[in-house]
Amino acid sequence: MNSFSKNLFFTLVLVLTFVLTRTTLARTLNVTGAKDFSHLLENLSSSDLAKVKAGFSLFAKGWVTAPSSTRVRDGLGPLFNAVSCMSCHQGMGRGKPQKSDLSIDHSLLFRLSVTGKSPHGGPLSEPTYGGQFQPRSIISVKSEGQVKVEYIEEVGQFLDGEKYSLRRPVYSFSNLAYGAFQSDVLISPRIAPHVAGLGLLEKISRESLLANVDVADVDGDGISGRVNTVWSPTHKKHMIGRFGWKANQATVADQNAGAFSGDLGITSMQLPNESCSSLQFDCASSLTGGAPEINKKLLGYVNLLISSIDAPRVIKNEFYTKGLKVFRKMQCQKCHVESFKIGEREIRPYSDLLLHDLGERLADKRSDYLASGSEWKTPPLWGVGKQSSVNGHTNFLHDGRARNLTEAILWHGGEASGSKNAFLGLSSMERKELFSFLNSL
Ligand code: HEC
Ligand code: HEC
Repeated sequence: MNSFSKNLFFTLVLVLTFVLTRTTLARTLNVTGAKDFSHLLENLSSSDLAKVKAGFSLFAKGWVTAPSSTRVRDGLGPLFNAVSCMSCHQGMGRGKPQKSDLSIDHSLLFRLSVTGKSPHGGPLSEPTYGGQFQPRSIISVKSEGQVKVEYIEEVGQFLDGEKYSLRRPVYSFSNLAYGAFQSDVLISPRIAPHVAGLGLLEKISRESLLANVDVADVDGDGISGRVNTVWSPTHKKHMIGRFGWKANQATVADQNAGAFSGDLGITSMQLPNESCSSLQFDCASSLTGGAPEINKKLLGYVNLLISSIDAPRVIKNEFYTKGLKVFRKMQCQKCHVESFKIGEREIRPYSDLLLHDLGERLADKRSDYLASGSEWKTPPLWGVGKQSSVNGHTNFLHDGRARNLTEAILWHGGEASGSKNAFLGLSSMERKELFSFLNSL
């Protein structure tokens, strides 16, 4: 090469590297810290990428009290749990239940209801406090109160003698500003899950989900599994539930509208009313940030953002294959179903998105549409190995009570008792292989 072509060659390499880095960067959300829950799907057009970026800004930045000069992001509250989506889903990831000794982190929220059903078959909201406890409020309104948690340790041991301890949460509510809860109040604690791969879960066909249903346990394996059927405020009809810990939301759009309303106090076309009960006069008479507070176009950007996050990437390690064998030997995949086909793509969420009874010890005793007080949706296991780098902790289960994967499995009961007992009988080598596998997800 002469020096001219050499220069040309290096310039080309430089330009190419620049373009490639730019495209890879554009395909990952700009979260602080580890980006394992922030990879975007590959086939997004550049106009979709721009919308995703706008959606990300609405997800990440704090909302403010109305009226404000920040018209796009005002209308927070009057009652709320957090000022932004990101403050519960840090790095698009999961919340942690405890802040300090006894106080609860706001990423753990509490659903409230009383005996009976709403007109659409959902939970009937607690008459004074509504469907969700909101410990924060704008200045002119009383916040609902505080919650604390205490953990009671319960010890046990594996068949080989190794000891373990599980912590059972006990919650106490105090400073209830609008009076006592109705005496038959039902309370469901829920931690914010990560939000990666949800657009893919939404694409799983109805038929594929129904194929795993075994309501009457016809195959006699002790595992039933059924769909939840919930009201979609977006489509104005009942649909199969896929999102939330009890599969209590049908679509990403419903889930997001629900989060804006319940968690931030932001109204939308789907949910136009502020979450003030008729007994919370100060709340009901507050200024709003418009009707609705987030318009259809902007909510659409947030929906596109959530639908565009790719599944977490598997990083296979030394024991991956052996660990997967242990997983199958214990029949974990009966609920944590390994794969689904969506069009040409195979996805591996390790979930059937169905409801299972996991026993009394995990029960919240509060039904949610068809889900009973002891039923939970099988959560996808993709991402369980990434959580510690994104969120700095390994708390699992619907209320974050498990401090690590071992405890998460040991809490399984009910339909999963067989699997739990098989786990108790594993050798320490098999346990090591299983955790290597789970941590690669
Ligand atoms: C106060 C904490 C908190 C805030 C703020 C919050 N979320 Fe969530 N998020 C949760 C909890 C808890 C769940 C599980 C809810 C359930 O089981 O019903 C959840 C679930 C979700 C899910 C479904 C995840 C799954 O795997 O099923 C999505 C999507 C989501 N949130 C999006 C949002 C968006 C968008 C915002 C902002 C408008 C937001 N969240 C704000 C706590 C929060
Ligand atoms: C009968 C169905 C069923 C079987 C079998 C089952 N699970 Fe689960 N699993 C669930 C459900 C439902 C939950 C959610 C429970 C909760 O949050 O209270 C869960 C939660 C988990 C979690 C925590 C996930 C998270 O995001 O917090 C892990 C890890 C897990 N299971 C691993 C396993 C392993 C390993 C096995 C086999 C030993 C297994 N499960 C067998 C249904 C099942």
